[in-house]
Amino acid sequence: MQKESQNAIPDHRPAGLGCGRPTEITALATHVPPRLLTNADFEKMVDTTSEWILQRTGIVERHVVEPGVASSDLGAAAATKAIAQAGLTPDDIDLIIVGTTTPDMFFPSTAALIQHKIGASHAWGFDLAGACSGFTFALATGSQLVSTGRHNHALIVGADVMSSIADYKDRATCVLFGDGAGAAVVSAAKDPSLAILDFAHEVDGSGAPFLQMPAGGSLRPATHETVEQRLHYIKQDGQAVFKFAVRKTEEISRLIMQRNNLTPDDIDLFVSHQANMRIIKAAGERLGFPECKVMINLQRYGNTTAATIPLALTDALAEGRIKKGSLVLLASVGAGFTVGSVLLRWAY
Ligand code: UT7
Repeated sequence: MQKESQNAIPDHRPAGLGCGRPTEITALATHVPPRLLTNADFEKMVDTTSEWILQRTGIVERHVVEPGVASSDLGAAAATKAIAQAGLTPDDIDLIIVGTTTPDMFFPSTAALIQHKIGASHAWGFDLAGACSGFTFALATGSQLVSTGRHNHALIVGADVMSSIADYKDRATCVLFGDGAGAAVVSAAKDPSLAILDFAHEVDGSGAPFLQMPAGGSLRPATHETVEQRLHYIKQDGQAVFKFAVRKTEEISRLIMQRNNLTPDDIDLFVSHQANMRIIKAAGERLGFPECKVMINLQRYGNTTAATIPLALTDALAEGRIKKGSLVLLASVGAGFTVGSVLLRWAY
């Protein structure tokens, strides 16, 4: 694993989105399946206690799908709501980018499946494999493609059915994850000051051994042996990922604030990927954010991978913690490793 050397501060890349037109999130919606898995449920499945899960992660419950429900179903439900909220129809969508680690299948892409399910007859699209940075990576990518003027409305989806790859015999990982989706519509900003302002992303593939699903890809195609060895499930070195996540959440957030001449006082809400309450609190404290500026909602959803940030943003909006004009800092760390951050001033 590379240490501070890669992309260490100071960063010489320019702040901002480049020379295109400003873009904004015009609508945001989420969808979670109704079925709940509580900490008490896990006491019956693996050798754990509700207290351990709550104290070590902060999670109380997570939503999981019924068999036969896939990431495209959750993503399509969130997308339909977001498009209506934006005052658009599916035909207005030019582009669909889906951040997901649990596509319905290898191919076709989940973006294509969502396109068909929602009837977005003029859209092209693709999946983006950013793991827990899936939403921040997809948001920056979609924003860039709208910024050029070549696309008017991009649908940015973070959707994951983590229950499809969680090993419900491994107490160290299965308690962490849940299923869900969020969708944002990104369009040209009506007011250039209320816009997506900057992003800073990194990948560091030396982190691959610490968080992965070892089999099922081209390296280790599915065999009886890979199934017997439970290699089609999430494998994680929890402590290594924990330390990396705290360090890089702080570092990338500090970087994007510094190059935009901002301090924690200027930020209205810090919305980090929701993997572990202790990671979010440690990073928030190191950055100097008071608790009231740190969004935490993983109690109710667990780690939904690419869906955590839209789920957190939606709850923050509902609670009045984000309003029109709020300066919001997003940060994410995930398998790869991937590291993402997006700075935006909320547009509605
Ligand atoms: O979104 C992708 C990024 N992922 C993350 O950010 C996850 C990062 N890692 C973490 O959140 C934490 O490392 C975990 C929640 C996964 C684990 O917490 P930890 O404080 O790092 O615990 P640990 O792995 O050091 O394990 C401590 C003990 C071990 O027992 P011994 O060896 O001390 O006897 C584990 O076997 O806790 C045990 N343990 C459990 N005990 C009860 C692990 N899982 C459980 C469990 N219930 N579910």
